[in-house]
Amino acid sequence: MHDGVQDHCAQRDSGSLEGQSPADTVGWGQLSTSELAAAEAALLGEQGAALRRAIFQLSIGQQATRGVGLDLARCLGWVEGDVLTELGEAVVGPIREFVFWEQRNGKLPSADLVPTLRRDEYNGKTVVELGCGGGCNLLSLTGVPGRQVGVDAMPATLQLQPILARLAGLPAPEAVVANAEHTPFADDEFDIALCYSSHQYMDLHRAFDEIDRIVNDHGQIYIMGAIFGPFVREAIGRLLRGRDLGILKYDTYAVVNTLTYQLLGRRVLGVRLQSSTATPIYPSSRWMRRQLKKRGFVVDDVRTTRLPGSEVALIARRV
Ligand SMILES: C[S@@+](CC[C@H](N)C(=O)[O-])C[C@H]1O[C@@H](n2cnc3c(N)ncnc32)[C@H](O)[C@@H]1O
Repeated sequence: MHDGVQDHCAQRDSGSLEGQSPADTVGWGQLSTSELAAAEAALLGEQGAALRRAIFQLSIGQQATRGVGLDLARCLGWVEGDVLTELGEAVVGPIREFVFWEQRNGKLPSADLVPTLRRDEYNGKTVVELGCGGGCNLLSLTGVPGRQVGVDAMPATLQLQPILARLAGLPAPEAVVANAEHTPFADDEFDIALCYSSHQYMDLHRAFDEIDRIVNDHGQIYIMGAIFGPFVREAIGRLLRGRDLGILKYDTYAVVNTLTYQLLGRRVLGVRLQSSTATPIYPSSRWMRRQLKKRGFVVDDVRTTRLPGSEVALIARRV
């Protein structure tokens, strides 16, 4: 095991990391200096692939294979027994995204199905990805002329970006920690706003207002994610097939919150949960069309495409 990881594990075991320095007492969703250094050493070290595999398995609800990967995850404090800890919950998203990114050979998601999502479509454009996570989509756009910037609300995702980029052998993307609902960008700064599997977590009224502000007069919005009708059909299928209470609760929250958000503009279940990703909504495409139209965007029906499962690639442009 790499020295940096070993030291971190020894210090964790002895309890000497607690209260070490201001940088080591950060809030939820952010790694302290020592946690980040240990994560870097572990992910880039010899057992990094095994560690990523163990975290990926847990992230998709499987049991992690016993072995060095799981041992390392426990030593880093990401897993206790067989369950992700709070710290593990902060790193699991970017690591899962990176494994998926490797599986699709570094391409943008659905790029083979939707021409608009191919890398050359972004040539010469200024692009902002809202909810960019570990930055894998930005890595797919590396070298495309123009500018690509990521935004994510959770600091840990941006802390992991340079590490994941090094694993990929690519430069770290440009990214800032911010909410999609309130970004640090100027009016009309971008040609394209991307929401890849992220719009469901946002306060969409405010996020659409912000996109309207930062996207210019010939700008476009690409939204990839599940929509209400197909999501409900899948949820009913899951209900009939199994008795997993966790999934039933997730689906119930998502359906109720989507309906109340569409009607009242707010979620009502799970609102005290720490992470916005715990309370997704899956608005109907009709509702999104209406909201986008109010802000001067029209959905491009020729390029908008249903994806496998309950997802859609919704493309809208300025009227
Ligand atoms: C499922 S991940 C998708 C990451 C990336 N777009 C991808 O396709 O790999 C969703 C991301 O959205 C971020 N997120 C959730 N709510 C957000 C908000 N209000 N503003 C900015 N980012 C947000 C989460 O922190 C998370 O990293």
